[in-house]
Amino acid sequence: METRITKLFNIEYPIICGGMFWLGRAELIAAVANAGGLGFITAATFPELDDLRAEIRKARDLTDKPIGLNINLFPAGRPQPIEEWVKMAVEEKIEVVETSGRSPEAIVGALHDGGVKILHKVAGARYARTAERVGCDAVCVVGFECGGHPGMDQVTTLVMAPLTADAVSIPLIAGGGFADGRGLAAALSLGADAVLMGTRFMATQECLGHPAWKEHLVSASEADTAYVMQTIGNPSRVAKNDLTDKVLEMENRGTTIQELLPIIGEQSNKAFEEGEVGGGFTSMGQSVGLVRDVPTVKELIERIVQEAVQTRKRLDRAIPQHVTA
Ligand SMILES: Cc1cc2nc3c(=O)[nH]c(=O)nc-3n(C[C@H](O)[C@H](O)[C@H](O)COP(=O)(O)O)c2cc1C
Repeated sequence: METRITKLFNIEYPIICGGMFWLGRAELIAAVANAGGLGFITAATFPELDDLRAEIRKARDLTDKPIGLNINLFPAGRPQPIEEWVKMAVEEKIEVVETSGRSPEAIVGALHDGGVKILHKVAGARYARTAERVGCDAVCVVGFECGGHPGMDQVTTLVMAPLTADAVSIPLIAGGGFADGRGLAAALSLGADAVLMGTRFMATQECLGHPAWKEHLVSASEADTAYVMQTIGNPSRVAKNDLTDKVLEMENRGTTIQELLPIIGEQSNKAFEEGEVGGGFTSMGQSVGLVRDVPTVKELIERIVQEAVQTRKRLDRAIPQHVTA
C-alpha cells in the first residue's frame, strides 16, 4: 500500500493510531509500529518529563520503526510543558509529532529545525487550511462520530473528509468512526491518504486497560456514546453512563465549566484503571459499535489490510475500470 502518508511517514500501511491520553504508551505504540502503522505516545499522560523520556526510550527498545509523540495543545486545567515536549521530541528523534487542540504555529519552526514532521489534527476543513498555512506536513480531520474531541459543528466524517480533501493540498488523514478495512478503503475513497483510529485500538491486547473496560468496548453499541460539553465550548465524545447523563442535564440548565470540572475532573482514567464503566468520564467513539473482539495489534492491522483488499475487489466489480455514462 502506497499513499502520500506512507511515503511521508515511512510506514508500510496507511493506518494511524491517534494519540490517546493515558493509553498512548510504549507497548501499544511499538506494536502499531511493528505491524506497519504509526502511533503516538501521548505526552500529557506523563506529568514527569523523565517518565515521558523513559517511555519513549522503552518504545525505541521495542521497535526500530518510526514512532510518534502526541502534543496536546488544548487549554488544560494545569499548565502543559509544551516547549519541553518539543525539545524532547527533537532530542529523542521522534519521527512525527501529532498536535491537536489549537494551531501548532508556535512550535512548527522548532520541530522542523529538529527534523520532526508535524501532523495536526482538526475538526473542520477551515482549521485544516490553517494547518497547511502554518507549515504542517500533514493534517488529520475528524468527524462528529469520533472519540475524544469532535468539533462544535457536529459534521460527520463522511462530509468532513472530502470537504477537507478539497480544501488542502498537504497529505490528509481521515479519522472518526473507522474500525475496519472497509473504513480504510472508505477513507481513501473520500480523498484521504490514510485512516486514523482511536477507539478500535483501545480494544487490543497491547493497549493498557482493565479487562472490564475492554469487555465494555466489545459489548457496547454505536449508540452508547454521549456528546457532551458542547455548551461550554469543549465538545467531547465519551462513553455514555450516569455521569454523562448528569453532565447533559447540567448543560441543559446552562452550567459553567467551573461547575462541571469538579464532577468530571478526576474521572477520566477510572475506566482504564478500575474498570469503572458506570461513573467514569472516558473518551470513546461511535465506532465502538464495530468492535467485537480484543485482538493483538498485529492481528488487527493484518485484518484491516485484508478487509481493505476484499473491499477493493467488491468495488472493482461494482465500478469496473471502464464504464461509459
Ligand atoms: C480514550 C481516548 C483518548 C484520547 N486522547 C487523545 C489525546 O490525548 N489527544 C488527542 O489528540 N486525541 C485524543 N483522542 C482522539 C484520538 O486520537 C482520535 O482522534 C479518535 O479516537 C478518532 O476517532 P475514533 O475513536 O472514532 O477512532 C483520544 C481518543 C480516545 C478514544
